[in-house]
Amino acid sequence: MSGERPIGVIGVGWVGLVTATCFAELGHQVIAMDIDAKKIRSLNRRKVPIHEPGIDQLLERNAERLTFTTEMEDVLESARLLFCCVDTPPTYSGDADLSRVQAVVGQLADNGDHALIMKSTVPSGTGRAIRRDASDVAYVSCPEFLKEGTAVNDFLHPDRVVIGADAGAEWAADEVEAIYRPLGGEMVRTDVASAEMIKLAANAFLATKISFINEIANVCEEVGADVTEVARGMGLDKRIGPSFLRAGVGYGGSCFPKDVSALKQLAGNTGYHFQLLTAVIEVNELQKRRVIGKLQKHLGALAGKTIALLGLAFKPDTDDIREASSLVLAARLQGEGAKVRGYDPVAEGPAGKLLPTVELSGSAEEALDGAHAAVLVTEWPEFAELDWASMRDRMATPLVVDGRNFLDPKSLRDAGFAYEGIGLTSSDAQAGESAAEAESAEARSR
Ligand code: UGA
Repeated sequence: MSGERPIGVIGVGWVGLVTATCFAELGHQVIAMDIDAKKIRSLNRRKVPIHEPGIDQLLERNAERLTFTTEMEDVLESARLLFCCVDTPPTYSGDADLSRVQAVVGQLADNGDHALIMKSTVPSGTGRAIRRDASDVAYVSCPEFLKEGTAVNDFLHPDRVVIGADAGAEWAADEVEAIYRPLGGEMVRTDVASAEMIKLAANAFLATKISFINEIANVCEEVGADVTEVARGMGLDKRIGPSFLRAGVGYGGSCFPKDVSALKQLAGNTGYHFQLLTAVIEVNELQKRRVIGKLQKHLGALAGKTIALLGLAFKPDTDDIREASSLVLAARLQGEGAKVRGYDPVAEGPAGKLLPTVELSGSAEEALDGAHAAVLVTEWPEFAELDWASMRDRMATPLVVDGRNFLDPKSLRDAGFAYEGIGLTSSDAQAGESAAEAESAEARSR
């Protein structure tokens, strides 16, 4: 593939960097551009500015196939296919902010040689609007379905590759298909508007599954059922499937909250009220707050109590805390007058910026020292490996609220903790409560 023109990648955020390094891994020359000079300098020194497993190795292994630049002209001169990976953050109205996409398009107009391949998540209809403004540019929608933390593996082993193109852009869609074909996975060739909608609908459906199982979990708590058993029994039905049925303290991250509200807003802009997504969003917001009630059940008023949040990232294997449940939880706890400590194995830097009033600890042990409760917010494996028996002696009250149903209730109960999960049988919670009842009662009276 050395004789071919390089592939252009515009925007070297998380999606762009995964895309660029994986294309290089497939043997392509790649020229990647970003307006952030600091990021480009760092990448040219082969330093990865994000936490994503596998990227370091890909960057090192394919260094000679990867060029990083701040100049759009460099990309336009050498590449024909331009993969647009700039971000589309939410605006106050819930619409996606397309200004960065528009800035890219502005530099392409009147350039018939190029194809713009949209990987950024954009509302349905964006492709049509772009073709209106830059009619010479072939436009292809190729949404990404990568998950943070497993993005490299997801890229290299896709379930499907969606490629949307309208009349006149088939040549570009064929070239994109040829790039992705060696990876396997079903090819979904369709029109641009449908490809755009597939992305938003897929994320909205996954978020709906999570809010659904969270509501089931809340009902399980009322009727004495165990949501993990319920999810297992449901998930074995092939029509339902086992994924995304883990109850917890809600979904977060830079994608689901943004995309669900963008789809709701997109529908609203056309006059259609997307009732189901309104509920999905509300359930998720309330779910992040349910931990407060569980703490109060054991500790009474939270004013003056120290609560340790274990895990701040929106999920394990990432340092991303955007829209993480930890943000809402920390603010609610502080609103109740509690002192909040936090520990995350990798998200300390971002947490320092987004959680300025939370006391950040250097280890789980440090966070738990003298704490009245531990709240597990992110299921980092190291929290399961903690020596919980010795944590019991460090803490002021032996109370664990497991926001991800990740720890083993029995061993925590055996170690003398009161244990609360999400949607677990009341017998677990009751057994845990009795073990620490005396201390909880004492804490309440303090
Ligand atoms: C999500 C989608 O899964 C990707 O397919 C998509 O490409 C990406 O958004 C995107 O649009 O860029 P991501 O946000 O990285 O990926 O993370 P997920 O693994 O989907 O998790 C999202 C949130 O849902 C996390 O907070 C996680 O803890 C939560 N979750 C996930 C649950 O609460 N329960 C589950 O069963 C699964």
